Amino acid sequence: MDRRAMLAGAGALGAVALLPGHAAGLAGPASRIPAVPPLPGPGLDAVARPRGLRIGTCLAQARPGADAGSLANPAYAALVERDCGLAVPENALKWQAVRPGPDRFDFAGFDMILHDAERRGLAMRGHTLLWHYDKWFPRWLIEHDFGAHPVQAAERMLRRHVETVCRRYGTRITSYDVVNEAVDPADGSMRSTALSRAMGSPEAVLDVAFHTARAAAPHAELVYNDYMSWEAGNEKHREGVLRLLEGLRRRGTPVDALGVQSHIGVFAPTTSVEEVVAGIAPAWRSFLDRVVAMGYRLVVTEFDVRDRGLAAAIPQRDRDVAAFARAYLDIMLSYPQLNDLLCWGLTDRYSWLRSFEPRPDGQATRGLPYDADFRAKPLYVALRDALAAAPVRPPRPART
Ligand code: G3I
Repeated sequence: MDRRAMLAGAGALGAVALLPGHAAGLAGPASRIPAVPPLPGPGLDAVARPRGLRIGTCLAQARPGADAGSLANPAYAALVERDCGLAVPENALKWQAVRPGPDRFDFAGFDMILHDAERRGLAMRGHTLLWHYDKWFPRWLIEHDFGAHPVQAAERMLRRHVETVCRRYGTRITSYDVVNEAVDPADGSMRSTALSRAMGSPEAVLDVAFHTARAAAPHAELVYNDYMSWEAGNEKHREGVLRLLEGLRRRGTPVDALGVQSHIGVFAPTTSVEEVVAGIAPAWRSFLDRVVAMGYRLVVTEFDVRDRGLAAAIPQRDRDVAAFARAYLDIMLSYPQLNDLLCWGLTDRYSWLRSFEPRPDGQATRGLPYDADFRAKPLYVALRDALAAAPVRPPRPART
């Protein structure tokens, strides 16, 4: 039995971590992370594998004394070892983290994440070679002067970034979000950024990014990643992503899959999650059918559940989150083009949602499989059951 299989079957975890100093978000001189309760039965990835699926999560960078979702945190590492065979850096491989300047790279943070992940037998995704949105560019890039020949200068900068990352990590990264969120959900247009203004068009930026990634990482799955959704009001975002995908195919740009972030949510106050569930399939299957008809595969890249429209009472809220998530996951897992499903964290304790989108009632969002004390919730059971019921699919085709 390999190390991963052994860890995945581990029942009694009981990891207790003592963090010296103040931990972010936890009071007291020495923060105590609660013990991870044992959970009988195989982990999520072990349930997924016989179906041709893999389960993963994002990993934060370890910060001294910080209570974070990193593998340096024994409690979080225990969950990852139990439930995951795949990982992705939450922030450590973004331009803001690795590119402090036009002529400087700093991979120390991601190197540590990758080392710790490989020791645990985790496969690694690369997120992201380019978040095509000025809001998330480093300040120096937005203000950069591309000189008298901006097209060539910007293309050289972008190529250098993609080549530097891809060549540094080689086959240690098996799939990349080459471009993230290039479509403006407000009108479906492609975002204008400092790079696209210098290179002449957003299409030129995407084509350079994907072609360079293919040349520098011929083994890797290349993904366009975005957060489109099915609800009324998201039509322009879906149509904009479909136009982007059609354009990539028309221009012969090498893209293997659409990353479906899956930050799903119940946003408007609702007392009937069944009504919300009934509203998913029609528009969402129509969108996904058009994507796979273009020959794209699918990756669920950042799954979590935003529950602000649900009543605060936890037992009922957890049941509704689980029912909503199960309905969504059954749709996604019905596509044989899907092999990898990653959560954007495993425990509510470290979810980005806690700061990004607090509930109006001030209660903590409960959108991940484990609660803030590492206890499995009904959402964990819903995810595990959806995986167990998923149709078996061929493994993701290896790129030669
Ligand atoms: O590391 C610094 C820290 O040194 C500093 O003291 C602190 C206060 O400014 O900021 C810290 O950086 C923060 C970083 O998360 C690490 O915690 C950034 O400000 C903050 O903007 C960043 O937020 C991340 C966000 O992407 C923007 O990069 C979230 O953690 C992360 O969950 C979120 O993930 C995105 C995906 O990449 C793309 N899809 C949507 C998803 C959710 O927004």
